[in-house]
Amino acid sequence: MFSKSTYIERRKILANEVKDGLILLLGNGDVPFNYTNNCYTFRQDSSFRYYFEYPLIDLAGVIDANNGEEYLFGDDVEIEDIIWSGPVATISERASLIGVKNSGTRKDLYNLMEEAILKGRQIHFLPPYRAENRNILSSMLHIKNSHVEKFASIALRKAIVKQRSIKSLEEIAEIEKAIETAYQMHTTMMRMAKDLGTYEYEIAGKMEGIALSGGGPVSFPIILTTHGEILHGHDHSLKLQKGRMLVSDAGCETPSGYCSDITRTVPCGGKFDQRQKDIYQAVLNSNLEALKQIKPNVEYKKIHIKAVTVLAQCLKDIGLIKGNVDDAVNEGVMGLFMPHGLGHLMGMDVHDMENFDENLVGYDEKTSRSTQFGLSSLRFGRKLEEGIVLTDEPGCYFVPALIDKFKAEKKFLSFVNYNEVEKYKDFGGIRIEDDILVTEKGSRVLGKPIPKTVEEIEEIMA
Ligand code: GLY
Ligand code: MN
Ligand code: MN
Repeated sequence: MFSKSTYIERRKILANEVKDGLILLLGNGDVPFNYTNNCYTFRQDSSFRYYFEYPLIDLAGVIDANNGEEYLFGDDVEIEDIIWSGPVATISERASLIGVKNSGTRKDLYNLMEEAILKGRQIHFLPPYRAENRNILSSMLHIKNSHVEKFASIALRKAIVKQRSIKSLEEIAEIEKAIETAYQMHTTMMRMAKDLGTYEYEIAGKMEGIALSGGGPVSFPIILTTHGEILHGHDHSLKLQKGRMLVSDAGCETPSGYCSDITRTVPCGGKFDQRQKDIYQAVLNSNLEALKQIKPNVEYKKIHIKAVTVLAQCLKDIGLIKGNVDDAVNEGVMGLFMPHGLGHLMGMDVHDMENFDENLVGYDEKTSRSTQFGLSSLRFGRKLEEGIVLTDEPGCYFVPALIDKFKAEKKFLSFVNYNEVEKYKDFGGIRIEDDILVTEKGSRVLGKPIPKTVEEIEEIMA
């Protein structure tokens, strides 16, 4: 937890930005795994935690934007809870540790909301991503369950996006701790992937163990697959075989709730063959081009386009595409090879604040989301600002079903050498992902450098 003043300052900024009404931030509850008392690992809501800190179940925070009054609500534990789960500080003790003057029970929260509704005051809340919180909002605010999202506050979301998008030095230090653990996860993967015959689950299990031993869970289910063309493949059942690339997309959370999100791709067995080296270098060039372009006041959408242009030029050199590279990119050819965006915000959530609505986080009045296949998957396209942390994660994939579809539809015949592309249907995919801080004049790759060049990867796998 940060110092009390961090939370006081954050809430003050939020109240000033929202200006009018009550801000209601619900924390998360436990989610049963297979029966009520056997729950998934608890994960606090990131916005609740940003302003009210505690990673404990069934809390809620309220800020009165008109008069600055703040409240922490929750029920104190009883002897039964203490016997099974141990003692915890009372709600009022916890409130005082984060500089909140008022505290109360869940019942008090309902009463405060009821009173506000009767007075016709605006209640700002975030769109729920869990059914339990949708039910609570529905009954507390007398909104039909299916209409809750519709009434979620745009003003609150915009205010939080403005604030949480820009990371403070203490937040950046936490993210770098999460990358330190990710360094251990990915270098362990590289060493293990040298041995052909190893199963993906053996590596994924070791990586998850490293995340846990770093004090937090993984920041999302580990993607570890020799079928990297399946972008978010969570199957780990295959044996590492010569000729396949292993995509490892994984990160962790720190005990304070900050994430890392790193991808490395390595040749099973430890040595790149020529075809793997060529595609790998193409993706690396694209990753490095993006890094060169990242600085304040540049739209990330433009950087995505630059990065895929570099990828396109490399694929042209290999003979997979033909014609004018800029035209190919403008036409949307690169969606065939990279059907995802260059990156997304990262912080307390691995895709920071995407529970608010991707477009509210990643786009604004000046930058609109493209509808072109590939570029349309870019989650964050707006202008960069100093203090933003985001990912730079280009990739190149050969998705047999997509190749077949485009070919059958005779798409991009003047740009794609389908006869050549066909030969890569057994290739899989490659992605390289780093977490980047936008600085005053440019950018910085966060954390200790994780082997990334062909030479560095072959060396660590040797
Ligand atoms: N970890 C999923 C992603 O890179 O966006
Ligand atoms: Mn990512
Ligand atoms: Mn990732």
